[in-house]
Amino acid sequence: MKYILAVETSCDETSAAVLQESKVLSSIISSQEIHSKFGGVVPELASREHVRLITPIVKKALQEADLKPEQLDGLAVTYGPGLAGALLAGVNFIKGMAVSLDIPFIGVNHIEGHIYGNLLSQPEVKFPIIFLIVSGGHTQIVLMEDDLQYKILGKTRDDAVGEAFDKGAKLLGLGYPGGPEIDRLAQSGNPQAVKFPRAYLKKSGSDYDFSYSGLKTSLLTYLNKLDKEDIQKNMPDICASYQAAAVEVLVHKTLAAAREFKAGQTAIAGGVAANSLLRNWLQDECRKADISLYLPEFKYCTDNAAMIGRAGYEYLKRGIYSDQSLNVYPSLKLVSAEK
Ligand code: KG4
Ligand code: ZN
Repeated sequence: MKYILAVETSCDETSAAVLQESKVLSSIISSQEIHSKFGGVVPELASREHVRLITPIVKKALQEADLKPEQLDGLAVTYGPGLAGALLAGVNFIKGMAVSLDIPFIGVNHIEGHIYGNLLSQPEVKFPIIFLIVSGGHTQIVLMEDDLQYKILGKTRDDAVGEAFDKGAKLLGLGYPGGPEIDRLAQSGNPQAVKFPRAYLKKSGSDYDFSYSGLKTSLLTYLNKLDKEDIQKNMPDICASYQAAAVEVLVHKTLAAAREFKAGQTAIAGGVAANSLLRNWLQDECRKADISLYLPEFKYCTDNAAMIGRAGYEYLKRGIYSDQSLNVYPSLKLVSAEK
């Protein structure tokens, strides 16, 4: 299984990548601008954009890798979780390619893709790892004891942390996606300026679930007491305080899980893994606790097909394939591969 082409279309990024085993030869990502004026992703528009863009993006990925389709040995595609119509665009495309080239393909879980997106950048991976998966749709702590083996320790009971960033940014009148904007504005703010709540749910630290809906509501309540001018003037402080409340719980629970499960390694994945406070804070705490931290490269934090190809490679090299009956699963859960 030498050359793999991967496609990712689960949300609003149309992406294709070519890998030579676990090494990325090309990675093309087209972020759909069309959604920004709506302040969030419009599913029907996303599907149409994927259908329009997928062929030229795959062609470009093959071109940059200097490969012809006939040289490919396997294919990988995200089949969930995500938007149904968006996922279908990628899955149908890959199914067609698999038939025409007569090569195997594998459906990859998007969350698993994010995990392997982190591992793409690690020269040497050791297990067990406590993985914090933080994106626009997911907030989970996972114990990974080996390749393709996962135990979900906790997840959000309501909003994902990326959603808290995006919804918070919307309340503040900032653009979409809001995470990078809040991160940028928070650089010059005081994280202690506003006391936003931290939802620990259970103080003992043995409960790894999260809740982010209260944080967003407390921001709304706080903003309702200020006029527009005050909000603008205090924007960096509000962003820094909001970000600190969101990140503190993530750092605390990741470290608590690493201690409880005696994991010498922690890792973060997903779009929010690009957050500078989360990266720095975890780095400090892991250093103090003598635990390794695997940080993903920025380009592999948000949605991309290279991460799907890297995860797909783990299946394909073991001879685990999907077949033409593969469906899409908008709420697909992360499960371990059979040993
Ligand atoms: O993984 P991703 O591209 O898509 C999903 O699978 O959801 O993650 C997108 C999320 C958005 O919520 C975005 O606001 C957030 O990642 N994000 C960030 C940062 N960069 C992206 N959140 C906080 N700080 C950042 N620097
Ligand atoms: Zn994602």
